[in-house]
Amino acid sequence: MQSIFDTIKKVAIKIDHAIKTEDLGYSDNENPSGEDQLKLDVKSDYIIEQAFKDISIVKALVSEEKEGVLELHDDGKYTICYDPLDGSSLAEVNLSVGSIFGIYEGELKGENLVASAYVVYGPRIELMFATKEGKPLHYRANEGLFDFIGEVTLDEKGKLNAPGGTQQNWCDYHKTFVDDLFAEGYRLRYSGGMVPDLHQILLKGGGIFSYPGTSDKPNGKLRQLFEVIPFAFMYEQAGGQAINSKGMRLMELVPAHPHDTSPCFFGSNYEIGKLKEAYGVKA
Ligand code: AHG
Ligand code: MN
Ligand code: MN
Repeated sequence: MQSIFDTIKKVAIKIDHAIKTEDLGYSDNENPSGEDQLKLDVKSDYIIEQAFKDISIVKALVSEEKEGVLELHDDGKYTICYDPLDGSSLAEVNLSVGSIFGIYEGELKGENLVASAYVVYGPRIELMFATKEGKPLHYRANEGLFDFIGEVTLDEKGKLNAPGGTQQNWCDYHKTFVDDLFAEGYRLRYSGGMVPDLHQILLKGGGIFSYPGTSDKPNGKLRQLFEVIPFAFMYEQAGGQAINSKGMRLMELVPAHPHDTSPCFFGSNYEIGKLKEAYGVKA
């Protein structure tokens, strides 16, 4: 696992350099979710693939930007499912973006995730790494190396509300839920990049990030293997919760296809309790 973590640190520095120096335009291709790929999506994917291809404990790679599974080492133990550049269209307007890594052992499903990591490319490069052994560990880059900042714990109740998806397409009870949080004093914190949005909630003690099913996207937008399950693990390890619209833990998801999506809600205990009430699911 240490070699995987060290490799993530190396790719973080390289992707950050690409973001700061390379063409921000679109390529001529679409990814498997039907979204136009930026040149930076393709480059970040390439950087990650090149970095992991010689790490013998990595059995396979699955990328948000590619169809299928890239087999690497038959004797490898782990499959890494990754979103090379999350929120990539925000780079053009100079907002923070990220990379997300889910490290799975065995079949690709939530309960087989053994560790997760994400990188935030903002004013600084930050890295969060979580295993089953404890709280997420927070690092910040300094001259190409990563300093350990501390363990991260969510409070029981926070102050931030990050409601994703197109509001016009929310169902009535979701709208009521979001409105009620604002009426209770919650503050809107939403950049449109799930990595910095979820990172802010984690570091500022708590709140809720939601990306619900909507009338145009009944299964939401965010992809289970690369986005939803790695962050669900992070939030649970930090003492929070992560569920779908039926109240099921996102860690219990079993994707039928690598690019399957799921409605998802990540937060501290109080806000997830409110969500369960609003959605009429068992607490
Ligand atoms: P990606 O750039 O990897 O396709 O993912 C972007 C995601 C996520 O970061 C964010 O929360 C969500 O898309 C926002 O989507 P919409 O603005 O389309 O609702
Ligand atoms: Mn993404
Ligand atoms: Mn992406």
